[in-house]
This record gives sequence, structure tokens and C-alpha cells, in this order.
Amino acid sequence: METQPRILIVDDVPANAKVLAELLSSDYIVSIAVNGHDAIETALLTKPDLILLDIIMPGMDGYEVCKKLKADESSRKIPVIFLTGQTETESIKKGFEAGAEDYITKPFDEAIVRVRVGNHIRKIKTEEESRLNEIQMLAVSKLATLGEVATGIAHEINQPLAYISGFIQNLEIAFEKNNIDPDKIKKNLKTAYRQVVRITDIIQHLRTFGRKDQEEKQKEITNMVKVLDNTLLIMGERIRLSNIDLKKIIEPDLPAIKGSSNQLEQVFINLFQNSVDALSSAKEAEIRIKMYSDKNMLITEFADNGEGIDKEIQKKIFEPFYTTKEVGKGTGLGLSIVYGIIQEHNGSVACESEINKGTTFIIKIPI
Ligand SMILES: Nc1ncnc2c1ncn2[C@@H]1O[C@H](COP(=O)(O)OP(=O)(O)OP(=O)(O)O)[C@@H](O)[C@H]1O
Ligand SMILES: [Mg+2]
Repeated sequence: METQPRILIVDDVPANAKVLAELLSSDYIVSIAVNGHDAIETALLTKPDLILLDIIMPGMDGYEVCKKLKADESSRKIPVIFLTGQTETESIKKGFEAGAEDYITKPFDEAIVRVRVGNHIRKIKTEEESRLNEIQMLAVSKLATLGEVATGIAHEINQPLAYISGFIQNLEIAFEKNNIDPDKIKKNLKTAYRQVVRITDIIQHLRTFGRKDQEEKQKEITNMVKVLDNTLLIMGERIRLSNIDLKKIIEPDLPAIKGSSNQLEQVFINLFQNSVDALSSAKEAEIRIKMYSDKNMLITEFADNGEGIDKEIQKKIFEPFYTTKEVGKGTGLGLSIVYGIIQEHNGSVACESEINKGTTFIIKIPI
């Protein structure tokens, strides 16, 4: 069951506090403080969702209490509503300057108190909910990317492993039959070794992928071409197996950007995955990636000649959970992850597409 929101009422006249408390106690858990010190102590201890604060009190007045609450990290976010008999603009302004969110004038009108308090509590709850949603979204997107990565690794490691295993079996047969050709073995050993290096590379790369994940927000000097190459370590084999021709047109000596290579790899993973899907029934399937710089922007154009996207659908593709793919094939998170990551890099992403011609994503990141 959802717990009731908590409200702290601060008034040096107990009768006033009691009237308010009675009015609000059916919907909220109410506590009362009778002076400034008491108010701060109770606020820090009980972390109320909202504070109703009288202005004129002996000792520490309401303005000072409010300033103190707003200066403390742990109470800063609690909204304060001033209770004031003074209706002059000056005192109301002073309340807002001290950090208050709103004010209610005395003598109280019950309906106004209820509505004002209700509005603030609702606002807090909505903010809390959207924060929670955001966290949930992030967790889901992490899982989705993890799935992509895992599939990619399986593809990538399978092929060199198949070669090595074939080589060992052939060697065994050659020994059994006493049919040994040292030159051939030497040549194949070299190839086998190259396959081992390739697997080691992939694993090495995954280790950095995992580690960097913990420093997710950290931005380092990043080379986008390197990011693309690293992505291809994971995705390259899947692209080849899908008979897609990959063309890279990269301006030489491209400047670096400030970014998270791990996150930017996720951008490429998602774009590749979408293009592979869009190209599943294409003839002469092609993915063409252009990278160049223009006016302090590093621009990546990521294009495929796949099925394209309808104009109406284009408006929705960056929305989380929007997918045209059947259940189990797409979660609809790919492009919303792309969008979020590019936003975090202060960049932009746009889509141009035409049905049956293909789709281009244009990503701009400041240099
Ligand atoms: N290159 C593309 N060509 C054609 N359609 C695309 C392309 N990229 C995205 N889309 C369309 O945009 C929709 C949303 O893409 P998004 O990557 O967000 O989700 P998804 O691919 O459906 O699922 P997920 O990426 O979570 O597995 C897709 O369902 C598809 O209709
Ligand atoms: Mg996708």
C-alpha cells in the first residue's frame, strides 16, 4: 500500500497549527513544530514531503528557517509554503527570495489550503515517478544492449573457433595416417594462430567494455573511427554473414571528440542491428558509413539501402518501445538509446528515409 505523504506544519501559535493539522490529517501524516529550531530539527529528522511555514515567529523567523533548510543538501528539495498574514508584495517577495515555492494567506480558507497543498504533493509525486521510470528505462536498455553484445560475441568467436577446431582434427588425422606435410602444417598453424589473436582481441575489447560501463558518465578523448572499428569487432561477422557490403568513407585525420567510447559503440551496435534487419530481403545489400568534420562538428552518416521507413513512422522511431517488428524480434529501445546517448554528448541525430530506397541516420557531435 502506498504510504501517505508527510507534511510538517510550523507555527508558534499552537491553535493555528492545530486547525491546519485537523484539516490535513485525513489525507496526510502531519507533524507540528512550534519554533524555528524545532522546525529545522524535525525537517531533517523526518524528511517531510512538504513544509507549511509561518513567517512571524519569536527567535528564528520563517525566512531564516527557510534559508537554512534550502542551504542544507538533505532538506533543500523539500518544498516550503509560507503561511502569512502579510499580504504586501514585499513580504511575499522576501519569502520567494528565501526559497519558498508558494504562500497561503491567513486567515485560511480551507478549500484553498487543500488545493494548494494537494497541487504541490501531486507535483512531487509526478517528479518522483518520472525519475523512477527513467531508472527503469536505463536498466531495461542496459539489458537490451547486453543481449545484442552477447549475440555479437557468439557470432564473432564461432568462426575462428571453427577454423581452429578443424585444423586440430585434420592434424590428428594426418598423424594417424602418417601423412604429414610440414609446409602445409606450418602455413595452417600461422592461420590458426591468427584466429587465436582474433579471439583474444575480442575478449580484450569486451573487458574494456565491461570496465568502462562502471565509469559510464566519464568522457574521454575519443576517436570515432576507433569506436567504429571496435564495434565491428563485435558486429563484423554478423554483417558479413548477412551478405551485406560494408563501405566506409572516412575523412583522413579526423579530430577527436570528447565522449564515452562505450556508449558510442552502443550507438553503432544499434544502428547496425537495425540496418541488418532492414536489409534482410534486399538485393545487393549495402551499409555505407561516411565520417567527416564540418564547422566544429564530427558528422557520421550511417546509410543502408534497405526497406526504408514510412514518413508517418519516422516521427515515432526515437520513442522508447516504438517498434514495427514482431514480438520477440524488437523491443523498440534501440533508437531511443541512440537518441539518449547522442543527447548526452550534446549532439544531434536525424533520420532521412525513403520507402524501398533506404535509410540514413545523420549524427553530429561537437569536436
Ligand atoms: N535502418 C532502418 N531501416 C528501416 N527501418 C528502421 C531502421 N532503423 C529503425 N527502423 C524502424 O524504427 C523502429 C524503431 O527502431 P529501434 O531500433 O528503436 O527499435 P527496434 O529495432 O524495433 O527494436 P530493438 O532495437 O529494441 O531491438 C524499427 O522497429 C523500424 O521500424
Ligand atoms: Mg533496433
